[in-house]
Amino acid sequence: MCGVVGYIGVNQAAPILLDGLKRLEYRGYDSAGLTVFDGSDMETIKCKGRICFLEEKIGDHSVSGTVGIGHTRWATHGEPSDVNAHPHISPSGRISVVHNGIIENYQNLKIYLQGKGYIFSTETDTEVIPHLIDYYYSGDICAAVTKAVSRMRGSYSLGVLARDEPDKLVAVRKDSPLVVGESTEGNFIASDVSALLPYTRSVYYLDDNELAVIEKDSVVFKSPEGEILKREPSTITWSLDAAEKSGYEHFMLKEIHEQPKAIRDTMASRVMPGLAIDLGFKAVTESYVKKLEKVFIVACGTAYHAGVVGKNIIEKLTGIPVETDIASEFRYRDPIIKENTLMLVISQSGETADSLAAMREAKGKGCKVLAITNVVGSSVAREADDILYTWAGPEIAVASTKAYVTQLIGLVTIAMYFAQVRESVSPETIESLKKEMQLLPEKAEEVLSEKETLQKFASRTFNHHDMFYLGRGLDYALAMEGALKLKEISYIHTESYAGGELKHGTIALIEDGTVVIALATQESLKEKMISNIREVTTRGANVLGFTTRGKDGQSDANFSNAVGEVFEIPWTDSCLVPVLAVIPLQLFAYYVAVLRGCDVDKPRNLAKSVTVE
Ligand code: AGP
Repeated sequence: MCGVVGYIGVNQAAPILLDGLKRLEYRGYDSAGLTVFDGSDMETIKCKGRICFLEEKIGDHSVSGTVGIGHTRWATHGEPSDVNAHPHISPSGRISVVHNGIIENYQNLKIYLQGKGYIFSTETDTEVIPHLIDYYYSGDICAAVTKAVSRMRGSYSLGVLARDEPDKLVAVRKDSPLVVGESTEGNFIASDVSALLPYTRSVYYLDDNELAVIEKDSVVFKSPEGEILKREPSTITWSLDAAEKSGYEHFMLKEIHEQPKAIRDTMASRVMPGLAIDLGFKAVTESYVKKLEKVFIVACGTAYHAGVVGKNIIEKLTGIPVETDIASEFRYRDPIIKENTLMLVISQSGETADSLAAMREAKGKGCKVLAITNVVGSSVAREADDILYTWAGPEIAVASTKAYVTQLIGLVTIAMYFAQVRESVSPETIESLKKEMQLLPEKAEEVLSEKETLQKFASRTFNHHDMFYLGRGLDYALAMEGALKLKEISYIHTESYAGGELKHGTIALIEDGTVVIALATQESLKEKMISNIREVTTRGANVLGFTTRGKDGQSDANFSNAVGEVFEIPWTDSCLVPVLAVIPLQLFAYYVAVLRGCDVDKPRNLAKSVTVE
């Protein structure tokens, strides 16, 4: 996600802003910039690439001034480029803004402002903000910001400067964190405390819709109605390392807990009850979708596992045959690709060599490619015919978690779009799915709140050398991901198996004490899974069961009696269960790896993005 910093005080702002941005580099970014204000002129310098490029560009510019805002950008709308970098400036030059978040209704606001004569020069959603503030500005920056944000939908944390009010730095947030820091030499804003630690440990965590009016020797908090709010500062005791992880011990745990927000952001304005799904595709148009006869889903690792879930869902909702392939296999098997075939490539990084090669193989055979990726402007994004971005924010830990669940959200969204166009299911079915999707973030929070059960499971099994993950249908796809998560961070040998396959070989390995993770979230297959569980328990297996509660919230006594140790997931539509069911498997793998003393964020032999064969 983006990084925001700001300063107003007695010292030169530029060095402080650059230092703060460097302390936010761990968040991941593709461009950076700053505005510095000396009371008369606002100087804005920004560029694509690393902060060192920005420092070179600043060079001997005289960016003097004791007020400023800075930004590191993680692109969501508009490729990484100098012009798309923040800060963004109103055409009048009198408003400068830095932003972290997504403005969901930016297209409507852009059309409205263009109708008022405003000119836009970037592809970003953010650019509507300075223009909207400028539109409302009549000498009171607080009033203008308040009016502007009242029209914005989505998430934002903002730093705002107004040329005509050089003694003020205004900040406001909604669903995107922002802290205010105070010191004897000036006051600060930042996306997280790690940017502030060298200057102050006395901070205020801004609440949603709260406005902060910051001057060099005062900080005033206001409600949207303009009421002055009494706030007490917090004292930060974290180390810098802890601050970068928002207090979590590892990036992986932080990113697991970011999943509710990542799900919400990726659904954003794409899945709105009562509104038709429009993904803005240019090649995968409605007429193209109507003719579709086959879909290939191609990816690697966790992204491949998301694809196997996606196969089940696309076939269920659309009736289109879907073939899933590991990218490194697809690219060498001379795949048969006929007309009216679509390739769906999934890649968090957008740089995985095998996935890129598979994509080029398909394009070379005349196949259109739709990409699901988390990185704007990545190689996959640039070469695909259409893109559905997952807005998970940067994923730092090697083990993929929030990217996986947002890939699932993307796949369900695409399946619903195809079903809507082909009328392969009733509009009521699609509406019901949309409504259930809106509940996923809070249900994910509910799952995260029950981590003690998983810590107990982990404490009982972390010293095992083998674990088997069993599931059927969507649960088999889920078993693949659960097995990989544990394997890659704890180094325990794991295997995922289709429950029905047990008697065809694997059951020979089950002996007294063998740990079996049994996944039974699909109502229609639960009885079959209970039979599989009985087959392994009678041979001495130690089974940890994962299942869903009933729609009425009741536990499944039949399953609990068969298994004993059970983790229950809140009810949701069967197409959406994998989004929730993977979370306990991620946490289980995390706690086992921690108990084994493994390097959770940087597992041995692994890279975050495999850009070579
Ligand atoms: C997953 O936890 C691993 N880090 C790995 O399997 C990863 O999913 C795979 O390398 C694909 O990466 P991509 O999504 O960036 O293409």
